[in-house]
Amino acid sequence: MGFEHTSVMPQEVQEHQNLKPGHICVDCTLGGAGHAFSTIRAILPDGLLIGIDQDADAIRHATDLLHPFKDQVRLFHSNFSDLPRILSAMGITGVNAIVLDLGFSLNQLKNSNRGFSFNQNEPLDMRMDIRNHLTAFEIVNSFSESELTDIFFKYGEEKFSRRIARKIVEERIKTPIRTSMALSQIITGAVPKKSAAKQRIHPSTRVFQALRIAVNNELDRLENFMAAVPSLLLENGRLCVISFHSLEDRIVKQALRRFENGCTCPKTLPECLCGFVPRMKSVFRRALVPSKQEIESNPMARSAKLRVAQKI
Ligand SMILES: C[S@@+](CC[C@H](N)C(=O)[O-])C[C@H]1O[C@@H](n2cnc3c(N)ncnc32)[C@H](O)[C@@H]1O
Repeated sequence: MGFEHTSVMPQEVQEHQNLKPGHICVDCTLGGAGHAFSTIRAILPDGLLIGIDQDADAIRHATDLLHPFKDQVRLFHSNFSDLPRILSAMGITGVNAIVLDLGFSLNQLKNSNRGFSFNQNEPLDMRMDIRNHLTAFEIVNSFSESELTDIFFKYGEEKFSRRIARKIVEERIKTPIRTSMALSQIITGAVPKKSAAKQRIHPSTRVFQALRIAVNNELDRLENFMAAVPSLLLENGRLCVISFHSLEDRIVKQALRRFENGCTCPKTLPECLCGFVPRMKSVFRRALVPSKQEIESNPMARSAKLRVAQKI
């Protein structure tokens, strides 16, 4: 099945990257390569687009889509937390723009057969990079009840974590939980009917998010990446990050705040001892959100938040 176009906030991302012909920019999350396709045209004829995705399907698709610009594009099947190593191997000391459009793509949700969706009956896998070993099947069928509770609570902010974990452990003794739909039925059975009826989202949404985050180690990777951002950008270089839930957005917001504040010494000290100086400034005080029209035409955009910051 072909790739579907999934770019969220495309105009905003293009505008706020501040791209010029000749710039070097990095799309850390190629996905359907919608952002990358617009980006490359803004930096022609002599710019360079570095594209990364941990999903081999995304790299294959981007290779085809960006073929007309192949001399100006370098693609890497890698995790974006590897960007410092990738740039240094290319001899690049800084870039003009970096884009992250976090989470999973429409293609992964609908066509990957890896169990990202509770609406499709697929093997419980959820790896974005199938070279990794840990799968959702392994977590669901072998982690202890308390480990499952922690994952659902920490990464899904699921208030019925304990009940759901208990039910999973009861059911998996009878038979291993192999598919996304089997898991979703167990979750639905564990959540009190009254609470489920009151929620705007499907009862499985938070647990599926939590498992995906745990399988792909998403938050640690993002945190490591954010710590490196100022050292990857050239002066006035821009970072654009689109996040889709509060756990991601918090990591981005807190990292940017640290870079903006600089000094981390207690206010009671008469003078700075840490030596940290401000390295980035946010372009907007608040995150930007998609327009009403965009949310109407693409409901996946509804929880998106775009933060833009500039290296100083
Ligand atoms: C929301 S989609 C990106 C959509 C894309 N911007 C577009 O225009 O079509 C997110 C993509 O990022 C990839 N991804 C998520 N976390 C990643 C990470 N830590 N390193 C590399 N790729 C990642 C996923 O595999 C997925 O393909």
